[in-house]
This record gives sequence, C-alpha cells and structure tokens, in this order.
Amino acid sequence: MAGSTSDPTPPSNTPDWVALREDDGRAYLLDRAAGEVKVKGLGRFDTGQLLNGYSVGDRIMVGQKSLTIVDAALPEARRNMFRRAQTIGIKDSGFLISWMGIGVGSRVLEGGHGSAGLAMHLANVMGSAGTLISVENRAEHAAVGRQNMERMAEFSSEFPDWHLIEVDLSEASGKVKEICAELDAAIIDIAEPWTVVADIASALKVGGRLACYCPTTAQLEKSWNALEEEGLVVEFSGEMIERRWVKAAKGGVRPGNQPMGHTAFLIIAAKIAPEPEEEE
Ligand SMILES: C[S@@+](CC[C@H](N)C(=O)[O-])C[C@H]1O[C@@H](n2cnc3c(N)ncnc32)[C@H](O)[C@@H]1O
Repeated sequence: MAGSTSDPTPPSNTPDWVALREDDGRAYLLDRAAGEVKVKGLGRFDTGQLLNGYSVGDRIMVGQKSLTIVDAALPEARRNMFRRAQTIGIKDSGFLISWMGIGVGSRVLEGGHGSAGLAMHLANVMGSAGTLISVENRAEHAAVGRQNMERMAEFSSEFPDWHLIEVDLSEASGKVKEICAELDAAIIDIAEPWTVVADIASALKVGGRLACYCPTTAQLEKSWNALEEEGLVVEFSGEMIERRWVKAAKGGVRPGNQPMGHTAFLIIAAKIAPEPEEEE
C-alpha cells in the first residue's frame, strides 16, 4: 500500500510469538521478547539475538537443527504444548466443535480442563465475542492448562473471554451462571461424567448441546442414561476412527502400520423444551 511503513518493532516486553518448525512437523514456540530461554530440544539462547534479522518464512539454524520460521498457530501450539493430563486430540475436538455448532460468539463450558487440549481448539474458533468457561479441580493441572491458554491468547488475533474456575464440576453451575446466564454447549471430560450431567444441563439453554467424552463403554452407558434422565435427547453416540495412509517404499500409497487406536466414545445430547404438564 502506498505510504505504508513496516510494522513498528514492538516494545521489548510485548510478547511476539513465532514458531520454529522442523521439516517433519515438530514445532517450538518462541517469544522474540522473552530474552534468555531454555527450550527442550533446542537448547539455551536469547530469543531476541537468535531471531534478530529473521522473519516468518525464513530458514534458521539452531545448533545442528535447520528450522523454518512460521506463524504461531494452533497446530504448532498443540505440538509444543505443556502436558500433564491426557488431552482430547484433533479428531475428537474437530468433530465435537462441528456437531455442537460451536463458533464465533458461542458460550461454552468445558471441564475437566486438564492441559487445555480441547480448550485450545475451542478458543481457536470462538472469536473475541465468545465466552469459554473451563473447570478444573486439580491446581497442578489447572496451572498447566493456564500456561497453554495464556500463551495462545498472546499469539491469537482473537481470543474468547476465558474463565478458568478451579472447583469441582459438581459445584460449578453457580459460578457458571454468574458468568453466563446460559450456555450454548458444554463438554465433560472427567472420569465420571454422569455425576455432573444434571448440574451442567441446568446451565444449558434449550436447544443447547451437552457432550461427554467417554474412554470406556461403562462410562458411555452411564452418561447416556444420565443424559436421558435429564430429558436430553441423544443425537450422536459413537467414535471417530482415524486411519492414516503412507507412501509405500516401492511406490504407491497404502494404510500405515500404526493406526490411531481407540481414544474415546463421544456422546452428544440436545436440551429440548419440557413437555407441558397435563391438566387434571
Ligand atoms: C482427561 S483430563 C482432561 C483433558 C482436557 N479435556 C484436554 O483436552 O486437555 C481430566 C481432567 O479432569 C479433572 N477432573 C476430574 N474430575 C473432575 C471434577 N469432578 N471436577 C473438575 N475437574 C475434574 C482432572 O483433574 C483432569 O485434569
């Protein structure tokens, strides 16, 4: 554009994230403004000095590694996330978001928050108009999830109004209702989802959807029964099966030797209006 100038250099304390990508897809998120850091897999260095003169799209050597500088985004953040609890992966997050209609401006509850695997996917599509409430009852898990979410907020052009509530999900509905009068969607990923279905369903709008992430069939059955007892209608129950293909050594492409095994059964139910009471 005529008369435009290059972006001003941000002040040194403003986070300025990029990702360094190995050719195979492994990635490391770096903040140019962070100063001296130690990055697992890359070593210790000053980020400003290392990246000085380099831009997104350039190749850079770090020690023996040749890396491409790319924008920090969800795929890179996922590959480089801090981890503690087991996370919900891409195939299940993507399906839940699409089926449940989660998008810009949605009001969503997710718990347990764990390492924020699912929460990062949700935040990525909800825009600044969205409200995301995460619930986690273990402080050490909440701390890891918060690290991932705060970093993502710093490199995202839009990020929802995010609340991390450190309580048990069975006691969360009061606080949830203080933040949001009602929810469009809720996703439960704890060992006993059926124990909190009633409480969380009470915060859901009519037409909203509640999903449970159930690694075992016993969890699925108990959650299914609890959803129906609350008057919700099960719309989907099943699992996503991912089968990757590879290039064969002697030509051609074929399914790989390492299919992704089972992750979890997903069950999604919608809240409908209650039946009118029958007149005497
Ligand atoms: C499998 S992890 C969640 C992973 C997360 N959804 C993700 O994608 O990264 C389950 C989490 O739920 C938390 N949790 C278990 N029971 C809970 C409860 N009743 N209330 C709140 N959090 C709970 C655990 O501490 C753990 O961090």
